[in-house]
Amino acid sequence: MPVTVNERSGLFRIETDNSEYQLMADSYGVLRHLWYGERVGMSMEHLQDYPDIGFSGNIYEAGNDRGYSLDTLPLEYPCGGIGDFRINAVSAVHSDGSFALDLRYDGYSISGGKYIIEGLPAVYADYDEAETLEIFLKDTASDVFVTLKYGVLPKLDIITRCAVIENRGSSDIFLTNAASFCLDMPSDYSEWIHFHGRHTCERLTERRPLLHGIQESSSIRGTSSHQQNPSLILCGKDCTETSGSCIGVLLMYSGNFSARIEYDQLEQIRLVMGINSELFRWELKSGGRFFTPEAVMSYSGAGFELLSHNFHKTIREHVCRGKYKLSERPVLINSWEAAYFDFDDNKILTAAKEAARLGIDMFVLDDGWFGKRNDDRSGLGDWYVNTEKIRYGLDGLSKKIKSFGMDFGLWIEPEMVSEDSWLYRSHPEWAIAVPNRKPTRGRYQLVLDITREDVREYLYNVISGILKSAEISYIKWDMNRSVCDWYSACLENKSMGEMPHRYVLGLYELLERLTSDFPDVLFEGCSGGGGRFDAGMLYYCPQIWCSDDTDAFERTKIQYGTSFFYPVSSIGSHVSAVPNHQTGRSISLKSRCIAAMHGSFGYELDPAALSDAEKAEIITQTERFKKCRGLIHNGKYYRLTDPFDSNLSLWEYVSEDKSEILLQGMQFRAVPNFTKNKIKLRGLDENKNYIVAADEKIYSGKALMSGGILLPEASGDFFAYEIFIAEAK
Ligand code: DGJ
Repeated sequence: MPVTVNERSGLFRIETDNSEYQLMADSYGVLRHLWYGERVGMSMEHLQDYPDIGFSGNIYEAGNDRGYSLDTLPLEYPCGGIGDFRINAVSAVHSDGSFALDLRYDGYSISGGKYIIEGLPAVYADYDEAETLEIFLKDTASDVFVTLKYGVLPKLDIITRCAVIENRGSSDIFLTNAASFCLDMPSDYSEWIHFHGRHTCERLTERRPLLHGIQESSSIRGTSSHQQNPSLILCGKDCTETSGSCIGVLLMYSGNFSARIEYDQLEQIRLVMGINSELFRWELKSGGRFFTPEAVMSYSGAGFELLSHNFHKTIREHVCRGKYKLSERPVLINSWEAAYFDFDDNKILTAAKEAARLGIDMFVLDDGWFGKRNDDRSGLGDWYVNTEKIRYGLDGLSKKIKSFGMDFGLWIEPEMVSEDSWLYRSHPEWAIAVPNRKPTRGRYQLVLDITREDVREYLYNVISGILKSAEISYIKWDMNRSVCDWYSACLENKSMGEMPHRYVLGLYELLERLTSDFPDVLFEGCSGGGGRFDAGMLYYCPQIWCSDDTDAFERTKIQYGTSFFYPVSSIGSHVSAVPNHQTGRSISLKSRCIAAMHGSFGYELDPAALSDAEKAEIITQTERFKKCRGLIHNGKYYRLTDPFDSNLSLWEYVSEDKSEILLQGMQFRAVPNFTKNKIKLRGLDENKNYIVAADEKIYSGKALMSGGILLPEASGDFFAYEIFIAEAK
């Protein structure tokens, strides 16, 4: 039983194999947070003994006890408008204009299995793999009820959180904040890591000290964004890949979010994460319920590596769904960087035929195949084939590609519309814009109001029509701008503070319908590369195009940051041409391949333009990737160096039984007159012997991990390493 309760003391203990979480309903019914960390086996209430702290007031019932303050105690779901002056997790405006909530304990329930969340993606598990704890809270003065849900996957050291807010009163209220969770911690952690960036430069790691006051990682772009990812790590100064305590949190949400950390006057940490309260105002009608998105948390007492392993396994086995969740992903070739908008079916078929000879499994026709789409100024919304370019139609083209022994995939960007399109001319009211204001254009395009049912219905019909019209095995679902100008004529209550969340709900509804109606189609997410790379999207699309930057050097950093939470199988990664289109840099084909194998692998170049030597090398690459894609996607992943801090970017995949290891990476800059690079391996069995393919010698696991191996001598910049290591039997 991972969840146990002591009804007398009000103590709830959630135990996973290697972590423990405690909360307690105290004698005032206030729900206090006691502990999240390693297993301790007893109540940690003794750590909460507060003296009177000036200007931190006391709840009325505490009488003369000036040490009892909501402003100092660690709380489980803090409310706005009462005497806790730190960041709140929930706040509401009542019909009389007051904005106080004071949620107190009102019971609990424990059940087998993992809860689901209406309309939102959530971690799923078999009945006997998980347990659910629900804590019921009720406001002291209104009929607002809140259920805090905890999903426990003990074997994975994963705890999920979400809240359901219910208005059982007779008047409507407005929610102005509804976080997924709060985590109040003592000051054991002094640093946090977040993943920031920009278009073509996503999920760069930044490790910062926690400073007094509030620090934040967030998005109000309508998507989870290139700029900040909805994930972060709390850790100590001394936490490394392999040692030290850390907590990772990941929001399963693809829209506006915030993760706010307050380092308070007593140097305690409060982390509140969920839908961003900026641009949020939700009318909770009498009888209505609001479901927050799910947050996923894990504690590791052995550094970031273990934390990542916990998240990788959870995302692969309990977030991603469908046929492709664990099965081998096709090696694909995408037309974008090879042709951009400039192609016809002859060009496509020539490329596809050549790609088939190179061992590539699928041809993906990217942007430009539909409507009047010869550049990015027009055509979005007109999802019918441009027969001037594709004379065979999608059906004819897909059949021809199939005849080469390849599958066929297609790019779409359903959430968008170009003003120069048939769709916009027929339905200008479907584009998001504030009445009497000119909308902001992004890449010349406007955003469709998918909060509207008629728009979603149209998109469902159009996309399912395309999927039925041809032999399409894959869809790349792109989204190429941030959203603003929030206004929908269909929101009856005119509360546009509901629209950003309704947009995400609309997106999820559409994706749910399409992915369940077309279970054989592999959906890949994309938003100008990795602008919507989050666990919410991974619930529908088991892989996401990681970045529009295909430069192998840049990619090692982007993929390094991405790997803290997201498994390698979820990272769309391609070999592109040189000089690279984003950076102008030229890197060898071998190094580009090694960088791209760190993901769901493919190519993004014109195969017809390759030399015979390059073609021969690609044939070897695709063969090699297919041979080891099981190890890459199912094995445990180890970050052996930090590319932000080193001239080496090295990583390693180890099979579950520790019998097969693949070490890959790159030395960035050539170093003259120096020793060979040495690297210590990780995750091996120290009692086994291994053969290192580079020199065919036998080493003990202990020697490889404690002493390491010398890497072959490097020559030239961006020199690639690839070493197979196998158990010597
Ligand atoms: C942005 C994507 O990230 C690219 O891969 C490509 O699909 C373009 N959009 C097409 O417009």
